[in-house]
Amino acid sequence: MSAVLVTGGTGTTGSLLAAALREQGAVARIATRTPVDGEHVRFDWADPGTHDAALSGVDRVYLIAPIGVVDAVPVVEPFLARALRAGVRRVVLLSSSAVPEGAPGLGALHHLVRTTVPEWTVLRPSWFMQNFLADHPVARSVRTSGEIVTATGSGRVAFVDAADIAAVAVRALLDEVPHDTAHVITGPEALGYADAAAVVTEVTGLPVRHRSVSTDDLAARHVAAGYPPEFAALLAGLDEAIGAGAEDRVTSVVPDVTGRPARSFAEFVTAHREAFTG
Ligand SMILES: NC(=O)c1ccc[n+]([C@@H]2O[C@H](COP(=O)([O-])OP(=O)(O)OC[C@H]3O[C@@H](n4cnc5c(N)ncnc54)[C@H](OP(=O)(O)O)[C@@H]3O)[C@@H](O)[C@H]2O)c1
Repeated sequence: MSAVLVTGGTGTTGSLLAAALREQGAVARIATRTPVDGEHVRFDWADPGTHDAALSGVDRVYLIAPIGVVDAVPVVEPFLARALRAGVRRVVLLSSSAVPEGAPGLGALHHLVRTTVPEWTVLRPSWFMQNFLADHPVARSVRTSGEIVTATGSGRVAFVDAADIAAVAVRALLDEVPHDTAHVITGPEALGYADAAAVVTEVTGLPVRHRSVSTDDLAARHVAAGYPPEFAALLAGLDEAIGAGAEDRVTSVVPDVTGRPARSFAEFVTAHREAFTG
């Protein structure tokens, strides 16, 4: 039976993936800095002393790079070398639709995984619908001011449900034939943030509107919220790219890989109505 080490296993995609893997009969070992039960294993990117034990008996890895680290190659490369020595054959890397192979940051990891791991998949999802719920700048500004503040102008994004990303990840991890490709994963429609705000209002009754600010203003807001300046600038730059149309695309990866349609934003907000209003 396959044992999968799920890095980021307590996070948005990892927790959904671990549950979905178990439904498929696979063993999901949840990597976390703070293990609380037998399904968890202690794992800290900053402490390589935790890596070998986490990899013991594992043949597949779901890889989420250290969060907020602009260049993660120096940390991830030795981890991958350990993983391959420990018998890992397959790695599924979570990257981003905004990052092509070879670009700095996640793009460098994409190249690393493709060129060093025998069986590989890179997931390149668009923006998560869960950004509207969790401890994310979008969700925080909705909660505090009824505003979604971005630097996207009228640019559109094909928001995707993290459960659909997890469903693609399950197939990439468990299918007999490795995918050996990069999947650009989107929801079924591209929406501007003003459209998304209107959906939230229509479904929940909450008054929510979109306000677009300059890229510099947005970076300053991220820094004020506690993000390191370099990471804040990177995030704000992604918004600027959305404004220029970079995310205005829809792919058929979710239906093609999972056999069912991707969830729409209206369906997502309806399913999580209480998280918005509670
Ligand atoms: N949000 C979006 O719209 C979007 C779009 C495309 C791509 N992405 C990419 O998605 C990734 C984030 O994935 P996610 O949202 O599923 O994760 P997440 O919810 O942000 O969770 C992060 C996970 O990382 C773990 N973690 C944090 N620091 C760690 C450390 N030092 N060592 C080991 N684990 C650590 C945390 O586990 P513990 O606290 O339990 O240790 C947590 O489970 C990022 O790479 C981002 O670029 C996001």
